[in-house]
Amino acid sequence: MTDFILAIDQGTTSSRAIVFDGERRIVGTGQQEFRQIFPRDGWVEHDPEDIWNSVTATIRTALDKAGITAADIAAIGITNQRETVVIWDRKTGKPIHNAIVWQDRRTAAICADLKQKGHEPLFTERTGLLLDPYFSGTKVKWLLDKVEGAREKAEAGELAFGTIDSFLIWRLTEGRVHATDATNAARTLLFDIARNHWDDDLLRLLEIPAALLPEVKDCADDFGTSTLFGGEIPILGVAGDQHAATIGQACFAPGMVKSTYGTGCFAVLNTGKDMVRSDNRLLTTIAYRLDGQTTYALEGSIFIAGAAVQWIRDGLKLVTEASQTGPLARSADPSQRVYMVPAFVGLGAPWWDAEARGAIFGITRNTGPAEIARAALEAVCYQTRDLLEAMRKDWTRDGTETVLRVDGGMVASDWTMQFLADVLDAPVDRPTILETTALGAAWLAGMKAGVWPGMDEFAAAWARDQRFEPEMDENQRAEKLAGWDDAVRRVLTQ
Ligand code: G3P
Repeated sequence: MTDFILAIDQGTTSSRAIVFDGERRIVGTGQQEFRQIFPRDGWVEHDPEDIWNSVTATIRTALDKAGITAADIAAIGITNQRETVVIWDRKTGKPIHNAIVWQDRRTAAICADLKQKGHEPLFTERTGLLLDPYFSGTKVKWLLDKVEGAREKAEAGELAFGTIDSFLIWRLTEGRVHATDATNAARTLLFDIARNHWDDDLLRLLEIPAALLPEVKDCADDFGTSTLFGGEIPILGVAGDQHAATIGQACFAPGMVKSTYGTGCFAVLNTGKDMVRSDNRLLTTIAYRLDGQTTYALEGSIFIAGAAVQWIRDGLKLVTEASQTGPLARSADPSQRVYMVPAFVGLGAPWWDAEARGAIFGITRNTGPAEIARAALEAVCYQTRDLLEAMRKDWTRDGTETVLRVDGGMVASDWTMQFLADVLDAPVDRPTILETTALGAAWLAGMKAGVWPGMDEFAAAWARDQRFEPEMDENQRAEKLAGWDDAVRRVLTQ
C-alpha cells in the first residue's frame, strides 16, 4: 500500500500543498499567494475562487515535484486559516459573496450590541470564545443581513456555510460532503465545546438557520473522497491551522505549549481533558478531537506577527525580502527605546480591543529603518510574553517548566528567537521540521489511513533543531517590559 500523504495548508496569504512520504519527509511542495481584498478600512476579504484555484494549482505542482500521481496518495489532510467565512449555493457551488476573513472588523458593532445586551457570558460559557469580530458567527449574520435574498435562501436550506476547510471539502468531493471538524467548529461562536454540538441558543441570538451548518466530525475521520486529480483519494484528516500545528509540534501532553508565527501569532497550551476557563481573557478551545475524545487548550491569539514584517517590506519598503528584517534589526542602535504596537486590525488577546490602532513610540532624529525593524520583531515577542503570562496565571501545575515550541516563518531568525527567550525568561525550542502545520494535518490523515504511526511514536520522533536559553539580565528585561506595557496602554481605547 502506498504511504504518501498530501497535506493542503490553506493559509491567510498563501495556499500550500505538501507531499510527505512514509518517513514523514517532504518530497514535493507547491505554494501560491493569492489576492487580499481590502474594500474598506478594517475589512478583509478573499475571493473563494482564488482560494480554490490556488489550492488545485498547488496540489498539481506538489504531485509533479514529488514525481507521483494521485494513485500514489494514501490520503489527504486539510488544514486552514480558521474563522474565515464562506457561504455558497448548494446547487451551483457558487459563493454568494467574497469570503470574510478572520482579520475583518466589520462586525464590531454587532459584537458591541450583543455585549451591551449582556449576552457575552453565554457565548463564552458555551464556546470558550469572546464577542469579538474575529470569530465566524457575526460574519455569518452580516452576510445573511446584507446579501439580498440570502436569509430566505438559508432558511429554505439552499445555502451552505463553511469555514475554509468545509468549502474545500465540498469542492474536493464535488458537493457530496458538507462537513467540518471539531477544531474549526470551535472557532465559529456557534459550537458548544463541552457538549460537542451546534448551539441552538447562540444560533437564535445570531439569527442563523441551522440548515446552513456542516456536520461536525473528529479531526481524523472520513470526510469523503476526491476524484479530481486522477485517482480516488480519501480525505481523512482536518484541523484548523493552529490545532494542526499543535499536533505537528507533538504537544500532546497537558502543559505543553506551542506558538506559531504566520500572518498572526497563536499560542496554544494543551490542558488535556480539562476545559480551563480563563480569568485573563484567553480563549478556551478544542486542541483536537480524536475517537470522540476532546482534548482542550487555552489559546492566545495575536492578529499581527508576520504581517508586521510584510508591512516593513511592502508598506515601508525598508527591506526587499522578509528574511532581511532580522539582520537589519540586529544592527539597530541599542540605546534607542523605540516601541511599535502593531494593532493594525485592533488588538487580540489578552486585550481584545477591536478599535485600537497601531503606533510607534520613542522616535528620535536618529531613528532609522533598523530601529523600526527591531521594534516590529520585538513587538511580536512582547505579545507572546503577554500571552504566556496570561497562560501561567490561568493554568499552573507544580513542577511544570514552560518550554515554548515555536514554528512558522519568523522562527528562522535566530535574533528574534533569542530575544523571545530573553523576554519570556524561558527556553524556546525550534524543531527540525518547521512545516509543523502541514505535518499535523498529514499525521491525522496518515494515521487514520493506517500508514503512519500512532501518537506515541509520532511524538517520540519530534526533534529539536536548536534551544534558545534566556540570557538577558533581569533588570534589563523588567525595563523593556515596562516600556512595552506603557506603549500598549497608550493605544487602548477601552
Ligand atoms: O485564526 C486565524 C489563523 O488560523 C490564521 O493563521 O497562519 O494564516 O496566520 P495564519
